[in-house]
Amino acid sequence: MIFLKNDYSCGAHPSVLKALNDTNMENTDGYCIDPYCEKAADTIRKLFETENMDVHFLMAGTQTNLAALASFLRPHHAVIAPETGHICVHEAGAIEATGHKVIHCKTPDGKLRPGDIEEVIAMREDEHWVLPKIIYISNLTETGLYYTKKELYDLRKTCDKYNLWIYLDGARLPMALGCAGNDVELTDIAAISDAFYLGGTKCGILFGEALCILNDDLKEDTRCLLKQRGAILAKGRLLGVQFDAILKDDLYFKLGRKANELAEALADGIAKRGFDFDVPPQSNLIFPIFSDELVDKLSKEVMFEPWRDYNDGRKSIRLVTSWSSTQEDVDEFLKLIS
Ligand SMILES: Cc1ncc(COP(=O)(O)O)c(C=O)c1O
Repeated sequence: MIFLKNDYSCGAHPSVLKALNDTNMENTDGYCIDPYCEKAADTIRKLFETENMDVHFLMAGTQTNLAALASFLRPHHAVIAPETGHICVHEAGAIEATGHKVIHCKTPDGKLRPGDIEEVIAMREDEHWVLPKIIYISNLTETGLYYTKKELYDLRKTCDKYNLWIYLDGARLPMALGCAGNDVELTDIAAISDAFYLGGTKCGILFGEALCILNDDLKEDTRCLLKQRGAILAKGRLLGVQFDAILKDDLYFKLGRKANELAEALADGIAKRGFDFDVPPQSNLIFPIFSDELVDKLSKEVMFEPWRDYNDGRKSIRLVTSWSSTQEDVDEFLKLIS
């Protein structure tokens, strides 16, 4: 089978495994109070060119989203998110289970825009309604699109106007910043966000995410609040060791670009064979449209996610390349649709 289903099913880049092996017999303090977590946090602060940023290492994306948002918000606060956002559709109501309403905005392409926020704000008449307090966006979006610099700064302007915080889910940040047309830099992410997370699980490590908090108002008692949600790992140094290894020599960003380049080759080959896409391909997530028969045939040889059924004899599917994908995967897939 050709594996194009997601970017987290392979293990870890060999340099991460080597670092884990090299440090295996060391004893350090637990719960991310160790030299490896400290070093990785310092590296992340340097990358984003900001000293005033708390960095916490967590195990998974859903855990990070729910533990972070729950620690930032007061009981009556709500989150504004695009309706396709991961917290809206793939986290089993994890945020709502912490007591916070997630307000879903309909968007044509998975991106949240100032107009969407304005619409939500206009709906609130008084204190009988929840108080929108933070927006959730992800870069990449679930639809594989990256935000432009202007889009991010426009969101910041709107959020400042309505006293809203910005939380950015960066599960695939190296892919977003490695897209051909991207004009956003790490420093822009730090400038527009109150908090964000830097993804690890989909970006070459075994597991782990780095939650980065910039706004001082969101930093109080974070470790205690994360611990209460079971989100601080006793063997926390495993996260520090992995981030330290993947962030060396630009490897993290090289792997993001590699995933994108393979997806671009795949998308070019698909387009050359006359097929269209549900969403214009930009990153390592692409959404080609095929006939129902071709999708059936592909499902016997390729692992992928179904995306949309147009109920007219065509379906789109989601193909994902990762740091571990190969040119051979691309060539073999293209042979199947030739
Ligand atoms: C953008 C985004 N955020 C969060 C998550 C959740 O990660 P996990 O499955 O590790 O909880 C995912 C996983 O697919 C994701 O794509």
